[in-house]
Amino acid sequence: MTTSPIQLGDVPNEHGYRPFTLGGFRFERDEHFVHVQWPTGRHVTAAEPFLKAMMRDVAWNFFYGTVNFDSVIGTLNHYGNVDLFAGRFNEEYRKAELDHSENFPHDEIKETFQAILNDWVNEDFDPFAAPMETGSAYGEKSGNNSRAVTRTRVAAKRMVGLPDDEPLRSDESGYPVNRAFLDVDLDEPVVEVVKGYENEVSAFNFFGYLSRSDVTWNPSVVSVCRDSLMCPTTEEFILPIIHGNDRVEWFLQLSDEIIWEVEDRESGKPRAKVVMKAGDCAAMPADIRHQGYSPKRSMLLVWENNSPDLPGMIARGEAPTVPVTF
Ligand code: PHB
Ligand code: FE
Repeated sequence: MTTSPIQLGDVPNEHGYRPFTLGGFRFERDEHFVHVQWPTGRHVTAAEPFLKAMMRDVAWNFFYGTVNFDSVIGTLNHYGNVDLFAGRFNEEYRKAELDHSENFPHDEIKETFQAILNDWVNEDFDPFAAPMETGSAYGEKSGNNSRAVTRTRVAAKRMVGLPDDEPLRSDESGYPVNRAFLDVDLDEPVVEVVKGYENEVSAFNFFGYLSRSDVTWNPSVVSVCRDSLMCPTTEEFILPIIHGNDRVEWFLQLSDEIIWEVEDRESGKPRAKVVMKAGDCAAMPADIRHQGYSPKRSMLLVWENNSPDLPGMIARGEAPTVPVTF
């Protein structure tokens, strides 16, 4: 890191919020809105969805591929360095040459985004919470919520339940069963392990585990087997980012229902609307972007192939953008 992420005079504005710059981008917020400026244009967007999107970008280390905060602003992960863009994946901005993109070292952009969240998220607001489980993101600056904005995803080293890993979450752990999952059976499976295999064999109640999730649209990792990551999550309301895939990912809808809007990754043109009900399974292609709507809190299993080789293989045409061709 050569530069401090906070480069303006750092004087809070009349609403109490500090402005931030990163390269040619300037970010400001007021009571309701975030204003973003870059050399060829400017954008205004509501503070709540912006902060929810930025929160995930930070907590997931810029995720796989593209994280669109909305149809204009977002990041593109090159795994080590990251593009911050405006209008890059918006056909009309591209045509009008209003789009702009700058590349930053991973740590520099992450520290800047973290500083924005520290300053712009007020005491009552939790960007990871469902709308009915948090206070408002709007208004003049009032305090901060460092517990919420420094939260990272829970990631298992092996499989949940095996020794040395994330303990199963009980009532004592401080994670009560969510209001939407009070009917979930919490009984744990009985596993009788042959002597000598205690370190390798276990089972846990996956629905029980997920019913205690206190966040939305924040996949955890419950098992890691080479590059295969099982990432369950609980969803309510709208996925705060529009995710542009750089690899195929699988969705298994474990409960309730999610409606997915699927668009072309580059232009944003609509490609499909996918309604997934409990038990449905879908593969999202590697050349789309998508956003989910969950009318009621639901459980979703996201299965990711974490191989670092995949984006290059797909870009070079060596691997297909869909897992199966009919
Ligand atoms: C996705 O973009 O694939 C995604 C992100 C977060 C979730 C679910 C799916 O909670
Ligand atoms: Fe995705």
